[in-house]
Amino acid sequence: SSSGNGSPSFRRKPVIIIVVGMAGSGKTTLMHRLVCHTHLNNIRGYVINLDPAVMTLPYGVNIDVRDTVKYKEVMKQFNLGPNGGILTSLNLFATRFDEVISVIERRADQLDYVLVDTPGQIEIFTWSASGAIITEAFASTFPTVVAYVVDTPRSADPSTFMSNMLYACSILYKTRLPLILTFNKVDVVAHQFALEWMEDFEAFQAAASSDHSYTSTLTQSLSLVLDEFYNNLKSVGVSAVSGVGMEAFFKAVEASADEYMETY
Ligand code: GTP
Repeated sequence: SSSGNGSPSFRRKPVIIIVVGMAGSGKTTLMHRLVCHTHLNNIRGYVINLDPAVMTLPYGVNIDVRDTVKYKEVMKQFNLGPNGGILTSLNLFATRFDEVISVIERRADQLDYVLVDTPGQIEIFTWSASGAIITEAFASTFPTVVAYVVDTPRSADPSTFMSNMLYACSILYKTRLPLILTFNKVDVVAHQFALEWMEDFEAFQAAASSDHSYTSTLTQSLSLVLDEFYNNLKSVGVSAVSGVGMEAFFKAVEASADEYMETY
C-alpha cells in the first residue's frame, strides 16, 4: 500500500506528525511522552519546536524556531503584543521553512518520525498563513498527519465535546490531512464515552439533552454533520502521564500515513 498514486520519488518516511491541541489539553506533556517512547523503543525520531514563546521544554529539540527568531525582540521591534509577536515570529520562520525541509530531506533515511510541536495558542498555527505554509511545505514533501489532542475529562461535558469536535473538524477540512483524535488523560477518564458518542449520535443527543442550556435542534443538526466527519478519522486514547496508549498512537499514525500515500 506504500506505492499510492503520488510521484514515484515520494518517500514513505519519515512521517511528519503535527501535534495541535487546545491550551491545557496536555500537548507539551504528550510531546514529552512521545519523545521518550521513541527513545526507549529505538524509533528514529526528530523533534521540531514551532512555539516561539515557550520558555522551557521538558524534552530535547532538533530544530527550534527560538534559535532563528527571538520572540521578545520581534515584539519590541514591531511594537506588538504577545499574540502578534508569536504570529510575526512564526511568519518570519515560515519564510525560511525550505531550509527546515532540506535538513529533514538530508536525514530522511535515518528517520522514522518527525514530531512537530505547535504554539500553545492553537489558532496561531491553525488559522494563520504561516501555519498553512508550514503545513503545506511538510505535506508536499513527506507523508504528514495531524494529531489533535483532546482533554478527555473536560470533553465528558457534551457542549465541550461538541466544541472540540467542531474545532477538529475545521482543522481536518482546512488541512485535508489525515487527522488522529488523540484523547489524552485517559488515566483520569476513559475515552469510551467519546467513542460511543461518535458511533451513535443518538447516544450523544441523549447526553446533550440533559444539558438544558443547549439548543436541542442545533445539537441535533450538528451531531448529524459530525457523524460524517467521524467516518473520516481515527481515534486513540492515551495518557501522557501514565504512558498508556503509545503503541496505539503510533499504529494510528502508520495507518494515517498509509492513507496519506493512497490519497495524495
Ligand atoms: P501548552 O499549550 O504547550 O502549554 O501545553 P498544554 O497546556 O496543552 O498542556 P500541558 O502539557 O502543560 O498540560 C496541562 C496540564 O494537564 C498539566 O497540569 C499536566 O500535568 C496535565 N496533563 C497532561 N497530560 C496528562 C495526562 O495524560 N493525565 C493527567 N492526569 N494529566 C495530564
